[in-house]
Amino acid sequence: MAVMPEWWGGRDLRALLPSIFFEHFRTTSFVAEYEEGLVGFLVGFLCPTHDDEAYIHFVGVHPSWRRAGLARDLYGRFCELARADGRRSVRAVTSVVNHDSIAFHRRLGFVLLPGDLEIDGLPATAELGVPGGPIVRFELRLDDAGDRQEPVPSTSSSADRRG
Ligand SMILES: CC(C)(COP(=O)(O)OP(=O)(O)OC[C@H]1O[C@@H](n2cnc3c(N)ncnc32)[C@H](O)[C@@H]1OP(=O)(O)O)[C@@H](O)C(=O)NCCC(=O)NCCS
Repeated sequence: MAVMPEWWGGRDLRALLPSIFFEHFRTTSFVAEYEEGLVGFLVGFLCPTHDDEAYIHFVGVHPSWRRAGLARDLYGRFCELARADGRRSVRAVTSVVNHDSIAFHRRLGFVLLPGDLEIDGLPATAELGVPGGPIVRFELRLDDAGDRQEPVPSTSSSADRRG
């Protein structure tokens, strides 16, 4: 929680990640550490309502570790466990103003789902009273052969080589 405002460029989204996530979703969440320091994390879960879906709630990478494949690696690990549980898609959302996150998700093969508004040409969904404002919603089909290799890194990903 301490790193979030800095990692999110000054935006304070900590209210979206209360301790219940770390209490109840440990088996589907990851932390990445280097020399005992936190360099990345992913908080996700297997959707209890839709048994073919998994959901990534938050991902963050230390600013000095970006563009090295670390978030791709974390997504890959999550997609593997989702597949192993029979899930056929992974969903995620991000604030419509978070252009880095939108570019990252598109790069990994996520598609933007329809919304109820359009902001900056993007399909957005209003989130009344929620920090971060309107969101864009993403989906990655795990059963699309073309996407299969994209978010799942090889064992020698660039993240492994970092540092
Ligand atoms: C979004 C974020 C998690 C990406 O982490 P990362 O470790 O830098 O991402 P990766 O290095 O694994 O990138 C995976 C792919 O996405 C691309 N990518 C990542 N960030 C990008 C950006 N800002 N613009 C364009 N492409 C980007 C990479 O080039 C890479 O593509 P490639 O492997 O084909 O070259 C990171 O920027 C971050 O922590 N941002 C702040 C927190 C945040 O916004 N989280 C998401 C919402 S919860």
